[in-house]
This record gives sequence, structure tokens and C-alpha cells, in this order.
Amino acid sequence: MSILINKEKNIFSINTLNVSYVLGIDDEGLIRNLYWGKNISDIEDFNIIKLEEVSSNDPVYEITPEEYPVYGGLRYKEHCLKINFSDGTRDLKYKYLKYTSTDNSLLIKLRDEYYDLEINLHYKIHEKYDLIERYVTLKNNTSDIIEVEKIYSGQFHIPYENLNFRNVHGHWGAEQQMFTQKVGYGKIYIENRRGISTHNHNPYFILDKDAKETCGEVFFGALKLSGNFSGIVEQTPYGETLVQLGINPHDFTLELKPGEEFKTPAIIAGYTNEGFEKMSHNLHNYGKNELMRDGLRDILYNSWEATEFKVNAEEQIKLAKKAKELGAELFVVDDGWFGERDGIDNGLGDWYVNENKFPKGLNQLIDEVKSMGMKFGIWFEPEMVNPRSKLYKDNPDWIYNFKTRESDTSRGQYVLNLSKDEVKDFVYNTLDKMLSTYDIDYIKWDANRPIAQSDVKKDIWFRHIKNLYDIVRKLKDKYKKVYFEACASGGGRIDYGSLEVFDDFWTSDNTDAYDRLKIQDSYSYIYPIKAMRAWVTDCPNFLSKREIPLRFRFHSAMMGTLGIGSNILKYTKEEAEIAKDLISEYKSIRHIIQDGDFYRIENTSSNDYYIYQYLKDNEGVVFIFLPQSKIGHIGARFKLRGLEENKKYKVEYLDEAIEKTGGYLMKYGLDIRLQGDYNSCILKLNSTLN
Ligand code: DGJ
Repeated sequence: MSILINKEKNIFSINTLNVSYVLGIDDEGLIRNLYWGKNISDIEDFNIIKLEEVSSNDPVYEITPEEYPVYGGLRYKEHCLKINFSDGTRDLKYKYLKYTSTDNSLLIKLRDEYYDLEINLHYKIHEKYDLIERYVTLKNNTSDIIEVEKIYSGQFHIPYENLNFRNVHGHWGAEQQMFTQKVGYGKIYIENRRGISTHNHNPYFILDKDAKETCGEVFFGALKLSGNFSGIVEQTPYGETLVQLGINPHDFTLELKPGEEFKTPAIIAGYTNEGFEKMSHNLHNYGKNELMRDGLRDILYNSWEATEFKVNAEEQIKLAKKAKELGAELFVVDDGWFGERDGIDNGLGDWYVNENKFPKGLNQLIDEVKSMGMKFGIWFEPEMVNPRSKLYKDNPDWIYNFKTRESDTSRGQYVLNLSKDEVKDFVYNTLDKMLSTYDIDYIKWDANRPIAQSDVKKDIWFRHIKNLYDIVRKLKDKYKKVYFEACASGGGRIDYGSLEVFDDFWTSDNTDAYDRLKIQDSYSYIYPIKAMRAWVTDCPNFLSKREIPLRFRFHSAMMGTLGIGSNILKYTKEEAEIAKDLISEYKSIRHIIQDGDFYRIENTSSNDYYIYQYLKDNEGVVFIFLPQSKIGHIGARFKLRGLEENKKYKVEYLDEAIEKTGGYLMKYGLDIRLQGDYNSCILKLNSTLN
């Protein structure tokens, strides 16, 4: 009963567990959004009210909540689709053809009145997560090329003004900086134009009506696309708010040849009246259960911060031995193992094992790692090439370039034109060869610069990403055991497009444990904790120059999938003991962290603390951080979430063990007083007693 249809009235109701999303076709033939909110079970109550123009300057299109507005006719608001027909016509007029549906999907078929161009609106239900997924396909049935100048994945209507809009801003080393701003008159525009990645805005929207963590209405949607996206939020003068999301029309044109079809990236969207926590839970559960692979993520050691480009077999083996001793399960050699890679300006593209660094071959290291019972991972930056590399000398026309322009380097490298078939094949074959030659379990896929001087074809911005996804999917299909980490200069590829293809996100090159708390907090609104890779690294931190005790650094990294990026060969005996203990503690709680529900906990009496709770079945973990004691500091009280009211929980923290009911812990809460700076602790909950 997820899709309800009233054929006479032409009304379609898409239902998840708690939410209805209702569409109708009005007497003008326009696809109208009728409702998005809490479940309304009876579709019969819906009618399509006739809308009249407000004035000759405010035509009916302006006030019609169109599901997929096109450029054409008397439309002046933002549109989702703009087409240039071969005869120069730049005006679309669609008519409704028919619908098809299954238990969990709906397809509304439209066609231009004159040209045989199909516009298909697809909806899919993810019932138990209260999410709907929507995308659009275009099919050119004419005998001419059709130019698509803009194609968004969808528009949503929210029947309110003065909403709050949330997204993130940031840059390299400062990703995921959440901001909130009031939606007023005028448009809010978020986007990425860099082609590869986005450290700045992220492809999602959160719009709320003064919601809080656990109450209030929240409308949200995330685009399954890495690369160039844009999103527009517009409060109209007619009393509602629109939001659109899709491929960035900036420098984009798609040529649709006769017979060709194009599918937009999907938006995964939801509504809740239970605040941000519920939004996060729905998205996290969808991500974890439907997109990500089952099973717990390994604790990895990554050599980057310890050795940078100065990689050699002997030291890597020493690091691997130490990593094993501390408890790591996966050893990853980062940049610097291949070609003539001694710095940023050479090697990319020449993906052979450097013989000076590995005189006995890469297998010497792999065999050592495997003989210790660890998995082996390795770094690649497959979309890039250095001008000094052999690959570039042999194939100078494989980079993004305009014939009359010299392409800019950035980080000493060019971007390979992955939209070309031969380049796509080269990248696939390179990885295929590595994976068939060596026993590799994990690939860290990096991308460290944006695209410039792109290509005469203006669809490359999308095609590059599509081809990237195709390559990774094909490799995963062939090498089922291999996990892929999405990294782009740190956290530049965190989006639902990546999550559908990769297994892990590198969250940020900023490994400062305090900065990470903010990054991780913002990340958690939309993306599952299980994909959030976090490393413990050395102090002073290379970026912040801050000194933070090792325990706090571990606790901060243990909030995600734990990794170690320190030069562990320099650990003192005491540091090694702390690391060993905390890695072993992480192993005992990671099922709660990676597979459990995540809660951002507010403290009621102090803002000095950062508190996060994880809950899975009868077990829970709470991380408590006090970065800095403030004057007059008296501790904090915080209320736990998601517990069973009448169950007794054993609570262990700071060498204390108490027993309290879920009701008490959620209503009264717990009092905590940490002292000093960069203090932190883990609290454990267990209700298996009863
Ligand atoms: C950027 C990544 O974010 C780092 O973790 C590291 O892999 C470097 N690139 C290597 O060049």
C-alpha cells in the first residue's frame, strides 16, 4: 500500500512508514505537488484545486507548485529543465502521457507537445527509512540532436516561509563547517564548480521550521553526485519555499543524440516532525543498510603522516610490525610507493612499483603484512598525471585541455580527461593489473586538485564522475573483497554518490582531534558514522600546531572508524600502552559505534562539553569531551537518548558503576565533571542485566 492512486482525479500518493508525498495532474496538465508531510492515509481527501493567475504579471505557473518545472511558457521562477531543440526553439511544453507503478515505485511519463522528447519522473520508496528517491530520465525520440542546457533531479515544495536552511561551508582542512541561515526573499545558492570534489558546500539541503534535535519539522534531501552540483532554495512571493538540486548548469550542456537516454543522479529525500536526530537516523540507516557493505570496518594504520613521500620497504615493514603490535588490522601504504614519486611533482600516472624504494618488490611488504595476519591497502590517485611522468609524455592529449591554452597545474599535476574512453580504459586497466598482480584488500582513491581548462564538450563535468563510478563499480564487481576509500584532498568526496560506490570516506586531512569534533558533528547530520574514517595522529598537529593528549586524540578518532596515522615508531612505551589499550577497547565497542544509532547529546547546564551517544540493542557508548575548562566550571548534566524507559542500565564511567532506569537516564540524566583541558572519557551502558 505504499503507492496509492486515484485514477479519476489523477492523484498519486507515495507513502513511507510515517510520511506521504502526494502529486496530482491538474486541468492544465501540470504535474503538481499537493503535499509532503506526515502520513495522510486516505487519498480520497485530496483534491486538485483550480488555480487562477494572480494578475497578468503573475501567471498561473508562478503559483502552481510544479513537481518538475521546465523552461517554457510564462514561467519565471527557477526551472529544472531547459532544452534547446535543433530548430532553435528554447521552450518546453510538456503534456502528461501516463503513469506506471509497482508496490514501491512510480513513474510519471511526460512528453513535449510537439517534439518527441520524453521526460520521465521516477520515484522509489524506501519505506522503513521514511525516504523517497527521485530522479528523471530524458529520452530523445526525435531524429535530431537535442541540447540539454540544464537538468536538475527534482524540485520540492515546502508550504512555509521563514524556514531555516542548513548546509556546510569550508575548505581543505576545514571541511563540514555547518551553518544555519534564515530563508528570506531572494535565493540561496549552493554549488560546486570544481569538477572533482567539494570541500565547500555539500550536495544536500536541510530546511526546518524551528526544529530542534528531537522535535520539529525537517525537510531534507541529498543528491547522489560527487562533482559539480548546485542547489537553490527560494522563498516565493506566494507563500511557499522551493528547493531544487541537481547537476550544476554552470558550463554544462549535454547533447542528446537521436534515440539516446539520460538519467539524472537521484535525490534521496525525507521529512520528519521529530527533529534532526530522526533525520540523521533515517539517512544513516538507509546508508548503512542499503548502500554500504555489511560487516565491521577494520582498524587501519596509514603511513602518510609518518613517512609522507619518503617511503621505503624497510621502514614500512617496521611500521607494519608496530601497527600489528598495537592492534591494527589493515596496513595502508599511502602516497610515494610508485614511479619516480619523491614529491608532488612526479610519478602520478606511472603506476609501477619504485624499485629503489622496494628493491625486493612490493610483495616483500605485502607478504610481511599478510604473515602478521593483517590486510594490505595501497594509495592511488588514478585521475591525475604529473607533467614529468612517462604517461604524460606518451599521451599529452589525455589531460583536460583546450588546444590554444596551456593547462594549469595544481599540486604539480594535471587532471586526466576521464570522459574519454581510452583514458577510462587506462585507469581501469591500471587498477585491474595491480589488483590481479598483488594481494590487495583496500584501495585509498585520492584526487588532489580540481578540473580546469576542461574540454570542448560541456558535459565532461558529469561524465568524469560517471566514468569514475563505473570504474570503481567494475573493479568491485571483479575483486569482491577489495574495499575502496573515497578521498579527495581529505574530505572532498563525501556525498551520497560516493557512498553508493565507495566503502569509506576520508573525512579530512585535518587530523587535529579538537577540530575533528566539529567536522564529525556536522558530518553526522547526513552521513553514516560507519563511513567516517578518523585517524589518531601526532602532536603538535601538522595543521593546527596544537598539543592534545593521546587519550583525547584516540577518543575523538574512536567516534568513527578508527585509524592510526601517527609515526608509531616514535611512540614511547607509555604511549604504546595507551594506544594498545584504546585500540583493544575500540574493538570491544566498534559494533555499537559502526552499526548502532548515533545521538548528538545536548548538555543542559554547560556548553563546554561535546557529548555523543551510540546505542545498539542492549549496549551503549557515550563519548564525553571537555576541550577546555572555563572559569567557574561546574560540570554538566546531560540526558541520554533512545533508552527503554523501564529497563535498568548499568552505567560505567570514570571508574564508577551505577545502575539506573532508562527513564531516569533520559529525564534526569547524568552529572559529569571533567577537569583540566582536553579531558575526555567513555561511558558504557548495558542493560543485559534484566
Ligand atoms: C591527500 C590525502 O587526503 C592524504 O591523506 C594523503 O593521502 C595525501 N593526499 C597523499 O598525497
